[in-house]
Amino acid sequence: MSLPKSVHVVSHPLVQHKLTKMRDRQTSSTNFRRLLREIGLLLGYDATRDLPLVETDITTPIAAMKAPLLDGKKLVVVPILRAGLGLAEGIIDLVPLARMGHVGLYRDPRTLQAVEYYFKIPQDISDRDVIVCDPMLATAHSAIAAVDRLKETGARRIKFICVLGSVQGANAFAEVHPDVPIFTAAVDAELNDHGYIVPGLGDAGDRLFGTK
Ligand code: PRP
Ligand code: URA
Repeated sequence: MSLPKSVHVVSHPLVQHKLTKMRDRQTSSTNFRRLLREIGLLLGYDATRDLPLVETDITTPIAAMKAPLLDGKKLVVVPILRAGLGLAEGIIDLVPLARMGHVGLYRDPRTLQAVEYYFKIPQDISDRDVIVCDPMLATAHSAIAAVDRLKETGARRIKFICVLGSVQGANAFAEVHPDVPIFTAAVDAELNDHGYIVPGLGDAGDRLFGTK
């Protein structure tokens, strides 16, 4: 399977184990929510490897030293509603001081186009690293629309975290936003006629919130 250069598949055994549990239809909503949060933390760990550090003066109980701390303004985590909320929880566990923005999008079931119903982000987003998250990258219409909007408002350094992508979605996203790296646990080969990832994990929002 050939994927664009901007796609990073996180092959860590804990990530792969948790993804399999999430795919399993027997997994309850409660466990799905917990797994999504945990996988969010692990994918977030990989996606934040290149955050800049600055040497600062501190004193340990034993001696003074110079030690690294995160540099610059705090990053912004932007979940795509609804299901992105569950993934964002894990990323916020990792970076508790992060700011948050929200993009509300739903997929029209007939056209599969993303329809926006909410958009609220920190004003100074152009000065911050931005992590957009949504468990699913199927056709990529939602992820492309979210990143389009963020770029329009000035966001420059953006990464996208998802749990599961499709080959079609990864290629479509990379074509429009080649500058935005994708961090994912896996990429499945197919989409069905309703735009669902096959074998996938079903409807992430419904499984997370128990709405079906
Ligand atoms: C799901 C998912 C993504 C989108 C992915 O959301 O959480 O946002 O579909 O599909 P795409 O790549 O083809 O755009 P949905 O529209 O079902 O909304 P929900 O999260 O509110 O359930
Ligand atoms: N949205 C989901 O929640 N699951 C899919 O497989 C595709 C879109």
